[in-house]
Amino acid sequence: MLVQMNRHIATLIAAALVVSAAGCGESLNSHFVYSDQTEALMAEAQNGFPVKGDAEALPGAKQLVDERFGDPQSLNAWSKLPIDFGGLTGRVVETPDASVAIKELVLEFDGDVAVEQDSPLTLQFVTGAAAKGGDGPTVVVIEKWVAKDGKASLSATMNKDNAPVAGDVVVLNGGRVLQHGRGLYMRHCSHCHGTSGDGDGPTAQYLVPRPRDYRQGVFKFTSTNDIAKTSRDDLHRVLKNGIPGTYMPSFVPMLNEDDKHAVVEYVRFLAMRGEFEKKIGVELAPDFSKEAVAARIEGGESKSEIVESLREFLSEDMADSLEFVSDDLASAWTTADTDAAVITPDISRVPDTAESRRLGRELYLSKGINCADCHGIAGKGDGPQTTIFEKNPVTQQLYDTSGLHDVWDNVNQPRNLTRGIYRGGRRPVDLFRRIHAGIKGSRMPSFKIVPHEQIWHIVNYVLSIPFEIEPGHAPGINNTPVAPTPTP
Ligand code: HEC
Ligand code: HEC
Repeated sequence: MLVQMNRHIATLIAAALVVSAAGCGESLNSHFVYSDQTEALMAEAQNGFPVKGDAEALPGAKQLVDERFGDPQSLNAWSKLPIDFGGLTGRVVETPDASVAIKELVLEFDGDVAVEQDSPLTLQFVTGAAAKGGDGPTVVVIEKWVAKDGKASLSATMNKDNAPVAGDVVVLNGGRVLQHGRGLYMRHCSHCHGTSGDGDGPTAQYLVPRPRDYRQGVFKFTSTNDIAKTSRDDLHRVLKNGIPGTYMPSFVPMLNEDDKHAVVEYVRFLAMRGEFEKKIGVELAPDFSKEAVAARIEGGESKSEIVESLREFLSEDMADSLEFVSDDLASAWTTADTDAAVITPDISRVPDTAESRRLGRELYLSKGINCADCHGIAGKGDGPQTTIFEKNPVTQQLYDTSGLHDVWDNVNQPRNLTRGIYRGGRRPVDLFRRIHAGIKGSRMPSFKIVPHEQIWHIVNYVLSIPFEIEPGHAPGINNTPVAPTPTP
């Protein structure tokens, strides 16, 4: 079992592209932090076990994360994840003379190789003996590239023990996108969102609402259905429009299309890192958090028995769990980018008439739907739910502050709908999606069971609230004539 575990890790590392910060000219002296959940594990679960006799080293939670994601100075790009790390995949076609040290290779790539003056072509071996490290380099610089016959002269000699052979997979300029994204993120985003994407940068403490902590992998303003993650398009839209009514700015003048692409991929990278760490914590915490260990000791187990059971868990069960967890993660993020995940109304917007708004208000107040329970009968965001005291669902302790709380444990004030400021966009279809899917991570629930026609009536009503003279008496309700709001 031990052997199997280590083989698993070896493949993983082979599949990771090392993205070094060298040559970036930025100062990146900060590190990724670990979550509170990881820090709450017993020391051995955090740090693993060193080599002991015949037994190989077993990585703990921290190393399991670092192996796959690295840190800001040297990011790892774990190719299993649906992130465009940058780089061109190809393979070795021929090694002119494998019996002696290798300096030349014939390669083919799945696209055109662009040679730029100031940035050297780097080549990373992803499979085969050369990928395994050993004495020889796994990342080499191509000194000379002859496109017409695919000949590459390497800057370093690869010795024959770990020489590449025909068929080995290589990546050219691996990680360039991620590297570019990191640079932009550190400059434009980290002072609010934090180096690790934990929403805890130096400016964050002064902001309400707080900058998003990406590490739960939960994003609020998406076009996707209630169980799907955010899509790349959604993240692009947030960068373009910012989030109205919050400190999240628009980055239109600062970032061009390539920049936005790179920074979106980097946000996805930070989110997946956080989620992966969280899922490892979920595997380990029930039996190996400091708290669980104290309870086990109270129940009569000895510390050494517990440590032994951890060793067993890490060597026998962890590999399978991680395989499952990472498949899940990759598929969830991939699904969010498909058309099927996007909410498309069955019918187009119903005409914005006085009757539609009246029906919308009726639904808004109705027992079954009851938007007023949170948003209040006048839409001011002051419904009865805002005065209750809730328990934190994880700790089961009452929160100090009254009202609803989101998954980041911040007070989650229902929106004041009289202001007409919509964080997720003000087009009718944006509001349709907000009501259909709810706002993920927040207490705004999904109303996907409500027929689409009725959702449109509610949208028409919500868009009229800022113009109400008194609750339920917008121009257009009670037969006051009204100028319809524009259709998309
Ligand atoms: C001045 C502080 C600030 C800066 C700078 C900033 N953000 Fe934000 N960002 C916020 C706040 C505040 C929110 C949360 C708004 C909310 O919850 O409604 C947010 C939310 C987000 C979200 C979450 C969207 C969602 O659907 O949940 C993303 C993604 C995001 N920011 C990306 C970025 C990126 C990328 C950058 C840099 C290019 C950046 N932000 C720079 C403050 C900032
Ligand atoms: C259980 C409480 C709750 C109920 C019920 C509820 N909401 Fe909300 N709603 C919220 C909260 C909380 C927010 C703010 C979420 C955030 O941005 O973090 C919100 C936000 C909104 C927004 C702002 C969207 C944006 O882009 O800024 C709209 C519009 C809205 N709700 C409409 C409705 C409508 C219409 C209904 C009924 C169909 C409804 N809500 C039912 C709690 C609720």
